[in-house]
Amino acid sequence: MASTDTKSTVTIRPTCAADLENIAAVHHESFARQSHSLEWVTATANGYPRMRYFVAQCGSGIVGYVVWAEKSGFRTEVVLELEQIAVLPTYRGQGIGRALVESLLDVNEALRARGARVKAILITTRSDNHAWHLYQSALGAKVQAVITDLYSADEAIMIAADPIAHLAKGAYI
Ligand SMILES: CC(C)(COP(=O)(O)OP(=O)(O)OC[C@H]1O[C@@H](n2cnc3c(N)ncnc32)[C@H](O)[C@@H]1OP(=O)(O)O)[C@@H](O)C(=O)NCCC(=O)NCCS
Repeated sequence: MASTDTKSTVTIRPTCAADLENIAAVHHESFARQSHSLEWVTATANGYPRMRYFVAQCGSGIVGYVVWAEKSGFRTEVVLELEQIAVLPTYRGQGIGRALVESLLDVNEALRARGARVKAILITTRSDNHAWHLYQSALGAKVQAVITDLYSADEAIMIAADPIAHLAKGAYI
């Protein structure tokens, strides 16, 4: 079981090839309906720079990850999808998910190098997944639509319209 001060010992960093099996282990542990974790994670990571993984490292272990996906071509005003986020069950509820979402500031810096910036974040999540609290709190995301029975249940489509400003304020609602 992780200790209550885990967040202070966790480092958020971009992924490297050596992380893929560990990311796949977190994926496998977190998403019961999704199979072939290593193949999926490897295929996604191979999409860099359209796809950007960040991991949460605690000691020598990977305890969480987030993957950002650039949508609809390489634009100046970038719409990113927070495609997936997961934290190992024993590390949840300690701020690691929020710290992973804050990696968006690093993505924005990387985009600035090509004269672009993050305009908006798209997120889809099961309507009954508590993760929407994190997206609302950290990014200012709001539910724009609900699609009935998309993957395994109703899926909420959320948009964060000004996520960098929201994150920079460290805003909590
Ligand atoms: C979603 C997930 C990544 C959150 O990670 P986490 O490390 O537990 O999140 P944090 O501790 O940073 O909490 C972030 C916010 O969510 C809220 N939160 C966390 N767990 C919660 C719960 N069970 N119920 C309600 N709110 C919760 C926290 O209060 C916090 O809000 P705040 O920033 O306003 O204080 C994690 O629960 C997880 O891996 N879930 C399984 C995989 C999954 O469903 N991913 C999302 C798919 S869309």
